[in-house]
Amino acid sequence: MLIKQLIRLPKIVLALFIQLIVLLVLTLGVTLAPKVVTPPYSYSLLVLIQALLAAMISCRLGLPCWWRWIQFFIPIGLYVGLLVEFNPLWALGIFALVWLVFSNALTERVPLYLTNSTTRKALKKFIKPQVNQTFLDLGCGLGGNVVFMAGQLNISESHGVETAPIPYLFSKIYTRLRGGRTYAMDMWKTDLSYYDIVYAFLSPEPMPKLWQKIKEEMQPGSVFISNSFAIPEITPTEIWELSDRRQTTLYIYRL
Ligand SMILES: C[S@@+](CC[C@H](N)C(=O)[O-])C[C@H]1O[C@@H](n2cnc3c(N)ncnc32)[C@H](O)[C@@H]1O
Repeated sequence: MLIKQLIRLPKIVLALFIQLIVLLVLTLGVTLAPKVVTPPYSYSLLVLIQALLAAMISCRLGLPCWWRWIQFFIPIGLYVGLLVEFNPLWALGIFALVWLVFSNALTERVPLYLTNSTTRKALKKFIKPQVNQTFLDLGCGLGGNVVFMAGQLNISESHGVETAPIPYLFSKIYTRLRGGRTYAMDMWKTDLSYYDIVYAFLSPEPMPKLWQKIKEEMQPGSVFISNSFAIPEITPTEIWELSDRRQTTLYIYRL
């Protein structure tokens, strides 16, 4: 019951909550320890115990298991920061930079990672011969797919939408120089009825809501391609397993 409620918390809040629980346990331990081991206790050892305990229980308390590494390095990073008297303005600067690149990881649960060239080449196969078609990349990141599709025969317009500030700026400049167009637009506000080929590489989180939008807006004969993330409970028209290193799966939904 408690675990279910914890899982609903934003990941970062849950992570800090777990660190706090471990800190309380450690405080209790340090209060009781003098009965067994004579103080003082080394700070480095206490920080290491905090890091190890937090890493060990995070997965059990509902954080994705790979977060154990983040949990391990949070206390160690803070401790090292204090030791070297790290200027907090740097931390603020780094946070701002990370936010400008990954802001959608917090709001939409979609971080930035990029489509590889094998997948991009596979996208070419969705272009029908001898008819002009339009392409849209929902959350276009740095604009690589938009530029690539803009250069293909029979693609009359290749667009991307992006809301994270730094990827948007990069993509805007890149498409201006090499073809296609990027818009600073929330993908939920796009008009999908304009596009023949719509591509997305997002995360499991937005897929059910995105399917509603696709059903309402995309035209018969158009195609939606999702890299890696299937739409729950909807059978794709086709599934393509690519032979790249990460063994990309494309879920294809023909409208
Ligand atoms: C996994 S990346 C994929 C980037 C690019 N499509 C590619 O395949 O190389 C997902 C991108 O979607 C963007 N994104 C997430 N939610 C969005 C939204 N609601 N509107 C616009 N972009 C969004 C993120 O900022 C991120 O750049």
